[in-house]
Amino acid sequence: MNTPACRICGGPLTPFLDLGRQPLSDAFVDPGQKTEEFFYDLVVAVCGSCTMVQLVNEVPRDRMFHADYPYHSSGSSRMREHFEQTARDILASRLQHPEAFLVEIGCNDGVMLATIAGAGVRHLGVDPSAGVLEVAREKQVRVMNDFFEESTAKEIAASDGPADVIYAANTICHIPYLDSVLRGVDALLSDDGVFIFEDPYFGAILEQVSFDQIYDEHFYLFSARSVQMMVRRFGFDLVDVELLGVHGGEVRYTIARAGVREPAASVASLVKSENERGLADLEVLHAFAQRVEQNRDELVALLTDLRDAGHRVVGYGATAKSATVANYCGLGPHLVEFITDTTPAKQNRLTPGSGIPIRDHAAFRDAAVDHAVLFAWNHADEIMAKESEFRDRGGRWIRYVPHVHIT
Ligand code: SAH
Ligand code: TMP
Ligand code: ZN
Repeated sequence: MNTPACRICGGPLTPFLDLGRQPLSDAFVDPGQKTEEFFYDLVVAVCGSCTMVQLVNEVPRDRMFHADYPYHSSGSSRMREHFEQTARDILASRLQHPEAFLVEIGCNDGVMLATIAGAGVRHLGVDPSAGVLEVAREKQVRVMNDFFEESTAKEIAASDGPADVIYAANTICHIPYLDSVLRGVDALLSDDGVFIFEDPYFGAILEQVSFDQIYDEHFYLFSARSVQMMVRRFGFDLVDVELLGVHGGEVRYTIARAGVREPAASVASLVKSENERGLADLEVLHAFAQRVEQNRDELVALLTDLRDAGHRVVGYGATAKSATVANYCGLGPHLVEFITDTTPAKQNRLTPGSGIPIRDHAAFRDAAVDHAVLFAWNHADEIMAKESEFRDRGGRWIRYVPHVHIT
């Protein structure tokens, strides 16, 4: 087999983790569905030249992002607050002049842009998923139903002029063709503008063994060092990094045209700490892969024991992340009776690949379940606060990040 090549720099990729055959993580199955599910091999690799961690196999983008894309960002109150605060910070720091213009890549249901629109600031949200954009439009958010890439960026620049801020959350890591995106940013960003994006942090994934952050949509697992090397290839500098507590640990990267802004001290300090931690060292990556296997074995053993002892186990949160866990660990309705999720578009469907039914919250309240696997572990605080009754009646949470345990 030929050595696969890095999607960013063409350098040699070394695979270090094989999570097996996986379905599309957000393709919840209608029980009456006649068409076969789509599967691909989920293999993670590191580039020997630019350190970028990435998937070896790319899923065609139209299979993932389309009119029925089920993820709605506003499903978590913590995330609603996070994006409202983000919008207010950006408004105050960068969008004070009357002609200011912000473009969001992957605006989803308008969770961030609603605040920008409410402030009367010029903006445009770009997203290929038509269904979520309907919700954004109801919030008076101006949208463009398309994939952001070089051609769409040039169209926006021609119709609206340069953007002071280009913003994206949990979207840039979803895009294999970042060369086109960064040429688009170059075409659209004003001379002293900033491109701000936040995504799951590979350093946090390693530390917490949160291997379920790895799935089709998360094509890249960024670090400060790999982002810095990537943006330099396109005439930009990484000028700031900020660690965020959301989604299990993210980093917000701020990019500017090369030479325009002095990088903050936080950049060099995070890159240094990544080098010390060996974020791109094969030895460290292989040790991570071993811990992933160990977590899988422990989770399967625990769920099997609980079932054999007659317990009723369900899942909480039909996350995209749970597709990786369920399919890698071979979970199915024989081990997890159903998964509860508040998203209407996921309810009464089956989890991709693993066929676990998804039920609404009433089903969770009604059923005499005694254990729940917390697939939405990144929203743990919010969920624990709201589910105190489950705990009070003796219910137990099964966690697998950072290690398998019952709480
Ligand atoms: N920003 C939101 C949504 C994240 S989900 C949040 O943080 O919660 C990822 C979103 O990116 C989806 O709505 C998907 O449709 C969109 N997306 C995927 N590829 C894209 C592209 N090339 N350009 C713009 N949006 C894209
Ligand atoms: P996410 O981890 O990708 O944000 O997905 C979280 C999923 O969990 C999403 O489908 C919504 C669901 N969810 C619930 O069902 N109940 C909750 O209280 C929260 C916070 C999320
Ligand atoms: Zn590379």
